[in-house]
Amino acid sequence: MNAIWQGARRRVAARWMPLAAATLVLLALVILQQLDATAALISVGALFTIAAFWPLDTAGLIEALSGSGSSVARAKRGPDLDRKGWRAVVDAIPTSAVALDAAGSVVHYNRLACDFFPKIRNGLPMSQLSRNPDLIGAVDRALATDERIDVELIERVPVERRVSASVSQLAHSPSPSSPRLLITFRDLTEQDRLAQMRADFIANASHELRTPLASLRAFVETLQGPARDDPAARERFLGVMASQAERMTRLIDDLLSLSRVEMRVHLSPRGIVELNETAAYVCQSLEPVAEGLGISLTLQRDKTPARIRGDREEIVQVIQNLIQNAIKYGREGGRVDVRVGHEPPYASAGARVWVSVSDDGPGIAPVHLPRLTERFYRVNVTSSREKGGTGLGLAIVKHILNRHRGEIKIDSKLGAGSVFTVSFDELGANG
Ligand SMILES: Nc1ncnc2c1ncn2[C@@H]1O[C@H](COP(=O)(O)OP(=O)(O)O)[C@@H](O)[C@H]1O
Ligand SMILES: [Mg+2]
Repeated sequence: MNAIWQGARRRVAARWMPLAAATLVLLALVILQQLDATAALISVGALFTIAAFWPLDTAGLIEALSGSGSSVARAKRGPDLDRKGWRAVVDAIPTSAVALDAAGSVVHYNRLACDFFPKIRNGLPMSQLSRNPDLIGAVDRALATDERIDVELIERVPVERRVSASVSQLAHSPSPSSPRLLITFRDLTEQDRLAQMRADFIANASHELRTPLASLRAFVETLQGPARDDPAARERFLGVMASQAERMTRLIDDLLSLSRVEMRVHLSPRGIVELNETAAYVCQSLEPVAEGLGISLTLQRDKTPARIRGDREEIVQVIQNLIQNAIKYGREGGRVDVRVGHEPPYASAGARVWVSVSDDGPGIAPVHLPRLTERFYRVNVTSSREKGGTGLGLAIVKHILNRHRGEIKIDSKLGAGSVFTVSFDELGANG
């Protein structure tokens, strides 16, 4: 009821000019004694009633009767009331978006557009915002033709990036300040980088598999041909073939392991892992390997339990990879020390717990340190292969740490050995 009354009042207000004019005319007629005062009053009443209930348009009538504003009715009420609406739409677009008026100047933009165009502000013509001729041409064409136009831009400053811009039409509006075009931008650089990484990874993995495969085929051919009747050579070749097949198996195991960890990287681990116990378990399992190379492997446990939220199998994999590397790349006959500790050293809220693995081997030159966790990155490919490495160990470690919100720190100096430390949030007593 209240809505009907308000609708009627709005209509009367919208028609006050003709109503006032008609009332004045009736008043003049009464004064000139051309019209009876009662008849004039009835006429004025009738005019107001008609003005109140004669719809401005169908949508207005629906609005008055339903009491709710339809979108068409709201649109007819003018751009000012609608301003908030379309601005909110531009703000909500999940990529950079800029609205232009019919003259090609900016009328609104979202927060992401500021990253694209640091100098952006309302009123700025598009031609001053971007010097890219393809984009400016697309805007001109869209204004002239009512088409939606997609363009691809290569920006070189401040950093090179590939961007796709889409210029779409918005409704024509009589108001010059209304939005006429919407341009949305999508940065394709990250997508390109990921595609390139994937292609490199596949190329590397195939290359790594092809090398032992080629060697296997060569040995098979030799055994079928020249070495057919040479039992000593056959024995030797079969040994090499077995080790090449093992290398392929290791590589496939590591590739599968990496892909499993990658798939789970977004799933938070649910278990509880105690690092002293886990490190002791790994040390025990690798003791025979270390002993075989004359390396003394020691473990220094933390005095207090070091519990983290984690997946035990994955944490075992992390510690195992680090100790295996220290044994492989450390000094033959040297030592590998594993330590578990707290940071700060006493229990407190927000404490970190860590495991460090140090060796007294030849160390790593600083230039390699930032790249060690990349897939297939090795300081010395031949030495890694000889020692049964695949170049994936530290990449797997890094992914597991990402899943556990852990960190890796590598300290190394040429000639002074290396220390690999992984750290995690400590799980609180009630946690
Ligand atoms: N403790 C270490 N001392 C010296 N170099 C190391 C050590 N740990 C890792 N590296 C270097 O980092 C590279 C990458 O390690 P990783 O990803 O485990 O691959 P892999 O052991 O299969 O070669 C190794 O090839 C080696 O060059
Ligand atoms: Mg390794």
